Amino acid sequence: KKGHLVFAVNGQRFELFTVDPSMTLLEFLRTQTPFKSVKLGCGEGGCGACTVLLSKYDPLLDQVEDFTASSCLTLLCSINGCSITTTEGLGNSKVGFHSIHKSAEKTDRPEPSPGYSKLTVTEAEKAIAGNLCRCTGYRPIADACKSFAS
Ligand code: FES
Repeated sequence: KKGHLVFAVNGQRFELFTVDPSMTLLEFLRTQTPFKSVKLGCGEGGCGACTVLLSKYDPLLDQVEDFTASSCLTLLCSINGCSITTTEGLGNSKVGFHSIHKSAEKTDRPEPSPGYSKLTVTEAEKAIAGNLCRCTGYRPIADACKSFAS
């Protein structure tokens, strides 16, 4: 249907029939969902505080492509058919934490996940590039990411 949007956030289906064309994904997440982990930092795509994982089926490749996206720059009307994952979608104390959470908590005792075992240290560093941390410093974050590297 014209103007009809269907997408998922952390596995929860959303279907919108009226969308403000200027609304960003960040604004939608913060005001119309329980998923508040995304933050408005710079609002210009420079800090990474609003980063989400965006997954979209590519019919030409017949596979799901995953991208990180700055939700402050992503118009809501551009995500039709996409699946969005915020950090809430990675797990929590009720359903269990993702291995990246555990590793971030215990950087001295990393718990690598098999899915991340092929990540190199360089790739780990690249993966967190563009995410500006203003609260804890970079070392613990970088160490947690590198704990998944081979
Ligand atoms: Fe800084 Fe989106 S708020 S990149």
